[in-house]
Amino acid sequence: MTANEISQLRVRLLNWFDQHKRDLPWRRTKDAYRIWISEIMLQQTRVAAVIPYYERFIARFPDAEALANAPEVDLLAHWAGLGYYSRAHNLRSAARDVVSAGGFPATYDGIRELPGIGDYTAAAVASIAFELPHAVLDGNVFRVLSRVFNDSTDIKGPRARKHFGKLADDLLDRTQPGDFNQAMMELGATLCLPKAPQCLLCPIAEFCRARTAQTQANLPIRVTLQRNAEEQRTVFWIERNGKLLLWQRPADARLMPGFWELPEGAQLPQAEASEIIGGFRHGITVHNYKFTVVRCAPPTDVGVCQWVSLTQLNGLPTSTIFRKAWRVVHRDSGREKVQLGVSAAG
Ligand code: ADE
Repeated sequence: MTANEISQLRVRLLNWFDQHKRDLPWRRTKDAYRIWISEIMLQQTRVAAVIPYYERFIARFPDAEALANAPEVDLLAHWAGLGYYSRAHNLRSAARDVVSAGGFPATYDGIRELPGIGDYTAAAVASIAFELPHAVLDGNVFRVLSRVFNDSTDIKGPRARKHFGKLADDLLDRTQPGDFNQAMMELGATLCLPKAPQCLLCPIAEFCRARTAQTQANLPIRVTLQRNAEEQRTVFWIERNGKLLLWQRPADARLMPGFWELPEGAQLPQAEASEIIGGFRHGITVHNYKFTVVRCAPPTDVGVCQWVSLTQLNGLPTSTIFRKAWRVVHRDSGREKVQLGVSAAG
């Protein structure tokens, strides 16, 4: 692309972003703390789903100081449902570093050093909050770049970050890097869609080489991560007198410390299933789980489990697996149930 085309592309994209950007709560601030929180949440979750989490989180932890002092239960309760809980702990560690340093770092390298902040988040915060010229690379940007340049480099391959990083840097508007980065992501999220790109509405269609070559539907090239074969798991729903039998992960567990979970065979090897309530799927990294939720009679020995009152549950950190099981139990109370007379363990 010529230098002249690149400057026209920047103007078109920035004007489009100005006129069409979605009104999102974190776009009404230049506060680095708030932008950082939004970017961490957005890494794992769709915009629409993030909004209520972001608003609750910011209302409870309006600045780095409040987050640095967050009690564990509060922190997890405000993150519960977003998944990848190590991120919540990293957020609090980073907030503590920010407070010790006397403020949010205002350089890319300073931001990049905070716990839980990688290249993407550092570039996003540096550019959006401080107008520093660092191009972001996320899934949306990979797609836009591969199409604009009609580039078939495998976006999951070993050379992808360096290769697309160079293209993103070449395109970046250095006078408005924050808006430019957001415009690239916004274009990917709203028009330059994976399956049905809206080229007729695209502000930079005339510069798009994939469009000229009619390859946009085949880009980006991605050699996909294979998930493992399905793994079966069974969770026990054991309810009595308005209480549910749960166990709590240890405070020093590597995964989701302090979270409350439904018991499985590992916690209650003697549980007797009386009914299959339903099932759901859940993917974690390469694991591809198929869960069955079974109702069991209350055991005489609850082992590591504890009875937790249903009214208390809302304030406790619970996993996405728990929430999916909850929905299964509460969605089809009218449906016919399969009766069982076998041990649920195993
Ligand atoms: N996705 C993640 N962060 C974003 C942002 N700041 N603007 C648009 N899309 C995004």
